[in-house]
Amino acid sequence: MNAEPCTYVIFGATGNLSRIKLMPALYHLDMAGRLPQGTRILAIGRRPWDQQKWLSEVRDMVQAKARDYFDEAVFLRFSERLYYHQGNIDEAECYRRLNLTLSEGQNFPKNIAFYLSISPSDFATVLSFLSDQQLFSEEYGWRRAIIEKPFGYDLDSAKALQKRISQYLTEEQIYRIDHYLGKGMVQNVLVFRFANVMLEPLWNRNYIDHIQITHSESIGIESRGDYYNSAGAMRDMLQSHLLQLLTLVTMEPPVSMEAEALRDEKVKVLKSIRPIPKEAVHAHAFRGQYSKGHVNGEKVVSYLEEANIPKDSSTETYASMKLYIDNWRWRGVPIYMRTGKRMAKAQSSISICFRHPPLQFFRDTQVQCTNANWILMGIQPEECIRMEMTVKEPGLEMRTRTSSLDASFRNEDEKAIDAYEDLLLDVLKGDRSLFLRFDEVEYAWRIVDPILQTWATERDYIATYPAGSWGPEDNRLFDKESQSWRSSLTPESK
Ligand code: BG6
Repeated sequence: MNAEPCTYVIFGATGNLSRIKLMPALYHLDMAGRLPQGTRILAIGRRPWDQQKWLSEVRDMVQAKARDYFDEAVFLRFSERLYYHQGNIDEAECYRRLNLTLSEGQNFPKNIAFYLSISPSDFATVLSFLSDQQLFSEEYGWRRAIIEKPFGYDLDSAKALQKRISQYLTEEQIYRIDHYLGKGMVQNVLVFRFANVMLEPLWNRNYIDHIQITHSESIGIESRGDYYNSAGAMRDMLQSHLLQLLTLVTMEPPVSMEAEALRDEKVKVLKSIRPIPKEAVHAHAFRGQYSKGHVNGEKVVSYLEEANIPKDSSTETYASMKLYIDNWRWRGVPIYMRTGKRMAKAQSSISICFRHPPLQFFRDTQVQCTNANWILMGIQPEECIRMEMTVKEPGLEMRTRTSSLDASFRNEDEKAIDAYEDLLLDVLKGDRSLFLRFDEVEYAWRIVDPILQTWATERDYIATYPAGSWGPEDNRLFDKESQSWRSSLTPESK
């Protein structure tokens, strides 16, 4: 697919996401020569800034995030693409003027991508104003809307939002973004599984004991208190990013990499997940909130002491859950997922634990019990694919130890690109394979809704964990004594 010149219209352009991700990503795409000639970026913001001020703001955003070095010549070229449109997104006037700018200025390509980097409560309003101005009509070029997560607050609100936005847009025009799908290592999960014949025969309930998915962060909620307190870890990470990882690890091979083929397989996994009845929520899910502690040697405050957090908040900053996929491949294999803020270490990983081999062969030796084989996929910050195997220790005795085989994903001179670069380019190409279809979002909500509903009625109890730890004691989720959270990607310290 070819990327076509387009006008990127960014709502919320002065906000955090645009600052740390979108503008730097667009600059890096320009630097790599991947932005089609003629591409323009029109920022919409409330602040009374002129073009001069906007350019200096973007310069700061890009300089702060430039990979390796800031290239003045590239920035000069990039800045010629940039425009600022001052307006209040709650007022029709903003859109009337926007329409005039887009249609009169010869500069702006008629293919338009509207990026909604705004509060989810504003999604429908902005789309309805754009639609009033006929800005989604594809008479002169394609029109696409990129919608950030969270898509809805629960199943009902997601359905209501979908109903509302489908009055203005066709499904082909909607790009629901989950930036995890743009991460190089996440895409590598598919390559690892489907481009290597050795794994497929083992990738099922006959050989796999359980699967773990961890996303831990050492940062807290930063300046996002209002948003975070209404979302919590389950909505913020588990319902979206972690369930997406789960689908990639467990889905059947799609017939092609084409968007619908890929999404059909992901939806089949989500549909096969055993529903959690309300009375079983405590056996399947756990939540916690950080108390004060130390992270990387620095003293940090508790969640309740963070800015904009009510003193009696029971919002979870840690959430874990156990799921089962009731299909032929996975029935009976528990999948454990956890995420948390202010944990010991920032790490995203998928760990697959294989069953123990029968050991009678070693009966008369000093080998008491060998470790299970694991496949470890580090997503960030360490990117790796590792297989842990048992080998004999050198020497006269028959003893064993664990050794790991590494399939490195990237050489040192191959720089990581940010997920947003990949995804922003896919929008220009019209490739929706790394964006979510509504049924994916819907089934993901169906999975977590009973948990959220139960937690909402039990507001007075939530476990705590010291900031800087690996989270609260939630071992009761595990089916067997031999199972526990794996926090390390190396064999020495499990
Ligand atoms: C976002 C969440 O979607 O993902 C944040 O809202 C979280 O709370 C972030 O910190 C994690 O993304 P990444 O790419 O830093 O792992």
